[in-house]
Amino acid sequence: MSDLTPKQHVALAAAQVVRSGMRLGLGSGSTVGLIVEALGERVQRGELRDLRVVVASRWTETKALAAGLTVVELNDVVQLDLAIDGADEVDPQRAMIKGGGGALLRERIVLYAARERLIAVDESKLVPHLGASWALPVEVVQFGWRVAEAALRALGTTPQLRRDGMQPFVTDEGNYILDCPFRLRAPQAQPGAAQGHDPHELDRALRAIPGVMDHGLFLGLADRVLVGQADGVREL
Ligand code: A5P
Repeated sequence: MSDLTPKQHVALAAAQVVRSGMRLGLGSGSTVGLIVEALGERVQRGELRDLRVVVASRWTETKALAAGLTVVELNDVVQLDLAIDGADEVDPQRAMIKGGGGALLRERIVLYAARERLIAVDESKLVPHLGASWALPVEVVQFGWRVAEAALRALGTTPQLRRDGMQPFVTDEGNYILDCPFRLRAPQAQPGAAQGHDPHELDRALRAIPGVMDHGLFLGLADRVLVGQADGVREL
């Protein structure tokens, strides 16, 4: 039996996918933090050379610099060879809920900019349908955010303004997050099974609300999903 946790297993496996010379996008969160440490060790050992990383949060930037990685601006590279990120929920079709750490807007841009997208999760993140255990984060501009909140209520959810202590949580882009419980339809829902929102319809409905900058429903943005387990890693 290994001493590693499922998250450590998957972080090490994800870091092994990275090659010298890559322009690499990194998301945010504790799994990405472990991947950054593993990459830093590979750089120190001389296994990885000429690696440039683009980061999706200030938090990841601090970790990457501490690990000795070379951090560059997305605008200076534009296209990435690979992006690696975590997720809060992953369904059997590799659709995801992200944004538990509030970095969803930049994470989506980083994933979009990459030729290949690798998601690294531990098995606790696998769900039969999205919304099973996680409220959907919706990022809204501060101006008139209650207008967006009312529009979200009309979609059948009860938004909660995310807080950081007594204050509203503010994203790296200066926006608020409304955490919205939604049940999403399972990819292969049986007739008669409890139904929920269609993910693509909900995506469109959310984007139509003025003031919504992004949301945590990530559809078609995971080419590969590595899943950490107690005894190692499997691919979804
Ligand atoms: C950050 O905003 C999120 O999208 C993270 O990718 C997600 O919350 C996963 O984080 P952990 O790796 O900490 O579980």
